[in-house]
Amino acid sequence: MRAELAPVLCCPACRGALRVTSREERAGEVIEGELTCAACGRRHPVHGSIPRFVPPANYASSFGFQWNRFRATQLDSRSGVEISKERFFRQTGWRPEDLAGSWVLDVGCGAGRFAEVALEAGANVVALDYSSAVEACRANLASGHLHVIQGDIFELPVLSERFDFVYCFGVLQHTPDPAGAFRVIGERLKAGTRLAVDIYPNLVRNLFWPKYWLRPITKRLSAERLFAIVNWMVPRLLPVSSAIGRIPLIGRQLRYLVPVMNYSGVLPLSAEQLCEWAALDTFDMFAAAHDHPRSVQDVEEWFRSLGWIDYEVFRTGVVVGRGTKPAMVSTIREA
Ligand SMILES: C[S@@+](CC[C@H](N)C(=O)[O-])C[C@H]1O[C@@H](n2cnc3c(N)ncnc32)[C@H](O)[C@@H]1O
Ligand SMILES: [Zn+2]
Repeated sequence: MRAELAPVLCCPACRGALRVTSREERAGEVIEGELTCAACGRRHPVHGSIPRFVPPANYASSFGFQWNRFRATQLDSRSGVEISKERFFRQTGWRPEDLAGSWVLDVGCGAGRFAEVALEAGANVVALDYSSAVEACRANLASGHLHVIQGDIFELPVLSERFDFVYCFGVLQHTPDPAGAFRVIGERLKAGTRLAVDIYPNLVRNLFWPKYWLRPITKRLSAERLFAIVNWMVPRLLPVSSAIGRIPLIGRQLRYLVPVMNYSGVLPLSAEQLCEWAALDTFDMFAAAHDHPRSVQDVEEWFRSLGWIDYEVFRTGVVVGRGTKPAMVSTIREA
């Protein structure tokens, strides 16, 4: 970790200030060391230059496995297609020029596909994830403006009031309590901070999606076992799914019955990329310990209950919510 990160970090237990001690440094960066809370005395390691606030094994471990195996798959710089960039700006509504020089928090960064976009716009990005995906993110994005942290949304080790922009994409449904996670992220932001989140939609169609019938079994398999099954399954099922998808009118709906993620006709990917993305996201849908979709109304209620007045919630493929933290939240809530 580099010195610029220290002012935005805090103790996840008591929000006290943290003192850094270093055992190994390189070019002004603490590679191995420790962070000690000045208030409660708790200690947190810095390992491989990443501050670690959570145990290495936790409910998100399958994501660590996934993002270290498919480290660069969804990075625009690797795919050659601006899929993450387009989604980032469509969902946030932010402009690249506003991000330049600002402090941005990426909650649940995974391998860093969206952090890459924010960095490219000139932001200082703090990328936080619960899992060992942080290793993939750091390895992917060598930038002096990137700070990677292994931490938990529910005990944020950062002062969220220090950030100008906060986003959380692809994450909330994968926590045990999406509404609670949203509250933790949203409640301490300073007036004027812009927040954007997304979550899987809660659709009637989900009832017919084999993903949700099979998950009670698949999420219990070891990551290695599931990975082997997915690698066997995907090249066989992808052509079946694509063939069904070509049936006029109903094909796109029907192909959900084949348990494989198929982006053909959805994202501009080559045949080889379609297969790689299918393997990644089929593993993702079956491995995640939690998968709790929510409706547009749910997300509207989250913003409303925090006292936010100026926000938008809409559906693209996912449910997107975004807004700017108003100045008078506490007054409105007390009124
Ligand atoms: C589907 S991935 C999305 C990653 C990235 N945002 C993207 O869109 O590529 C979900 C991520 O949320 C992280 N996650 C889940 N629960 C978390 C928590 N409580 N705190 C921080 N990150 C969490 C997982 O480790 C995982 O990397
Ligand atoms: Zn403390």
